Amino acid sequence: MSQSTIEKSASTATPVLEVKNLDVDIRTPRGVVRVVSQVGFTARAGRTLALLGESGCGKSMTAKAIAGLLDSVAHVAGGEAILQGQDLNQMSDKQRRAVAGPGLGMVFQDALTALNPVYTIGTQLGEAFRIHRGMNKKQAKAQAIDLMRRVGIPEPETRVNSYPHQFSGGMRQRILIAMAVALSPRLLIADEPTTALDVTVQAQIMDLLAKLREEADMAVVLITHDLAVVAEESDDVCVMYAGNVVEQGTVEQVFANPTHPYTKGLLDSVPTDAHRGTELSSIPGSPPELSKIPAGCVYQERCPFAAQKCRDERPALRTTADGQQAACHFPLTSLAASIENPGGTQQSDNTTRTGAHVLSEGA
Ligand SMILES: Nc1ncnc2c1ncn2[C@@H]1O[C@H](COP(=O)(O)OP(=O)(O)OP(=O)(O)O)[C@@H](O)[C@H]1O
Ligand SMILES: [Mg+2]
Repeated sequence: MSQSTIEKSASTATPVLEVKNLDVDIRTPRGVVRVVSQVGFTARAGRTLALLGESGCGKSMTAKAIAGLLDSVAHVAGGEAILQGQDLNQMSDKQRRAVAGPGLGMVFQDALTALNPVYTIGTQLGEAFRIHRGMNKKQAKAQAIDLMRRVGIPEPETRVNSYPHQFSGGMRQRILIAMAVALSPRLLIADEPTTALDVTVQAQIMDLLAKLREEADMAVVLITHDLAVVAEESDDVCVMYAGNVVEQGTVEQVFANPTHPYTKGLLDSVPTDAHRGTELSSIPGSPPELSKIPAGCVYQERCPFAAQKCRDERPALRTTADGQQAACHFPLTSLAASIENPGGTQQSDNTTRTGAHVLSEGA
């Protein structure tokens, strides 16, 4: 969890991006497939929200839809992505670029292909200042040097004239981050920004993102499938499965009390402090093909607790405790909550709840 949590709580920090009921479809030879379904979350100033989920669950599609960067086979089929009061989905590509340039920065996993090999770093970093701020070459170069310093690139006055291949992978990722924050965006989306880097460099890049977030009170959406990154770097977490949000809340809430069986399965699959000494398990099976998502709950095929209701009815995302939400007919903590709060009204339709829903407690 990042240090900003104390000052900027989950509910009081200013919303920067509000995503509501976002649907994304792709055209395939076998028909249209929905790859992002009814996704919603709020990214707040000074906080990092992690989009977490297994490969193929729709994290990148969600990010690209927000940033207006979907490939031609994909399109936004519904929903809203409101960046500082403006719905990005209602804009033309031109309007969106005008807003997204200064308002939203995006960092991708592959820093080498994202940089143009034939231009110097100074030229590429300076471009945003020339296009959006009307600066001349000299002014833009000075801004580029300043940015390089901010993101920790040594000797920026000389390195500004270097080409991408003259930098290490970690330095290139710093340059991409510099490009993303050049115009002081309110929102930074980082899609697996450290996957291609070695562990020490990963930590440095994460530190840099946290520093930039603090300096500028940015909202950060961090896409990852790494639970340790979520635990250490994020304030809020949105867990996705097969294109849907299945659980969300603050990192504290979700890690202490996972309420969706999928989240619980993920948390049980890695050794964290809380789980140290327990046997590693991974979730048996694999996510459904998105073209063949069953009726009912998206997780039913792998869920150890799936009941008839889960096969019949898609569970809505419901608030289970203090802002924490899960899309599950039988959320795991409902038993604990009802013991702590006898007569409480939560999940009153959960008539078939049994002790078995508390997974491997103390195991
Ligand atoms: N161009 C495309 N054509 C067809 N299917 C696609 C295309 N791009 C993505 N998909 C499908 O959309 C789904 C969501 O993909 P997405 O890239 O958002 O997953 P992800 O959660 O980012 O996964 P990863 O962790 O591997 O990056 C996947 O099932 C993928 O197969
Ligand atoms: Mg991805």
